[in-house]
Amino acid sequence: MNNKMKKELDKNKKRKKCIITGVTGQDGSFLSELLLEKGYEVHGVIRRSSTDFRERIAHLENRDDFHLHYGDMTDSLSLVHIIGMVGPDEIYNLAAQSHVQVSFDEPEFTADVDAMGVLRILEAVRLTGVDKTCRIYQASTSELYGRVEEVPQSETTPFHPYSPYAVAKQYGFWIAKEYREAYDMYVCNGILFNHESERRGESFVTRKITLSACRIAQGKQDKLFLGNLSSFRDWGYAKDYVECMWLMLQQETPDDYVIATGEQHTVREFATLAFHFVGIELEFKGEGVDEKGYDKDTGKILIEVSEEFYRPTDVVNLLGDPSNAKENLGWNPRNTSFEQLVKLMVEHDMESIAVEKEKEHIRTNVVEHLERTR
Ligand code: NAP
Ligand code: GDD
Repeated sequence: MNNKMKKELDKNKKRKKCIITGVTGQDGSFLSELLLEKGYEVHGVIRRSSTDFRERIAHLENRDDFHLHYGDMTDSLSLVHIIGMVGPDEIYNLAAQSHVQVSFDEPEFTADVDAMGVLRILEAVRLTGVDKTCRIYQASTSELYGRVEEVPQSETTPFHPYSPYAVAKQYGFWIAKEYREAYDMYVCNGILFNHESERRGESFVTRKITLSACRIAQGKQDKLFLGNLSSFRDWGYAKDYVECMWLMLQQETPDDYVIATGEQHTVREFATLAFHFVGIELEFKGEGVDEKGYDKDTGKILIEVSEEFYRPTDVVNLLGDPSNAKENLGWNPRNTSFEQLVKLMVEHDMESIAVEKEKEHIRTNVVEHLERTR
């Protein structure tokens, strides 16, 4: 064996292995990139779906240190099989039915994935005998504070979940803590406040706003319909937040941490800034369902409220206190400011909508040409 081969073998022996559930999601894709950069062998769990194109991780799929396995949070056997086969040093459990409004429509599925799914992972770790060596990150959420009992919220604030999603995540939080205490396992809950990015799902409010603002600015959409404009969120940048997931698993003892910016803004403020970055100044008039967002220059109505987007119970006052993470993880809560976050999302979407527009233009020209020459 020559020196180069020996070095390669040593590197592979030392290479840490991790499993990421929810690898196709916003956080899963950023976390994969971070862990690959750190030299990990990354194993992602994917669901069988009718489309094989996984946009957020497509650029990673040809690497030999990135592997995908079919599995599902509702299928214990698949989880036991993957964990047994990989023998991971770390598991990041990010998979979830993560949309709060959808959890009112699909409460049973949400509970199965977001609550029982956590139990399945923890038991799979025990059954495969890696419970003393494998560290586990559980994706908990600021939604646990729900109908908030204090502002700002920290690790000591009582939970008051306020949606089927939050109730399911509450089980996930406590079962993770229970396994830490009962079986001396290294399990951490990251209580993450909202984090957004250019990869955010299109039905979450921030991405819905940036995409619509860009379409309106480029003449592809007339109006944007939203729900509660007065809801407060503590919004950070997802790429900054995945680093905390990794940091939590590198500490001497496992614990639970709030990750937030310590700054809150309303949906209305987010929209105003996003439209500002596409060159439209908004002003809001009216109240409740009658509130409207006008283009200050033209007087045109660009935003209206629709009750369709109201939730049976809504969480309206999230503001995190990240002091603990700052002190003990060295977390800098303001890596990316609110303004920078909105701007980077808008810049990304301006470009993607322009490409969409260009493609449509070419398609229309081709169709017109075919019709003329038929
Ligand atoms: P996301 O973009 O919606 O991604 C969710 C991931 O879960 C997707 O990869 C999805 O796979 C997967 N998934 C859903 N059901 C599954 C099942 N039955 N089996 C296996 N995989 C399944 O969510 P995210 O924003 O990245 O959030 C990651 C995690 O953090 C979630 O647990 C979320 O609840 C939690 N969280 C998010 C935030 C936030 O602001 N983003 C804040 C606090 C906590 P498909 O691609 O196949 O659908
Ligand atoms: N989605 C959506 N669509 N929300 C709207 C709309 C709209 O048209 N109009 C107003 N909102 C309000 C919602 O009522 C809510 O108060 C707020 O905007 C944020 O909604 P979402 O962006 O859907 O996020 P979320 O806060 O409910 O949930 C996200 O953050 C949680 C962390 O606090 C998700 O990522 C969860 O998975 C995560 O746990």
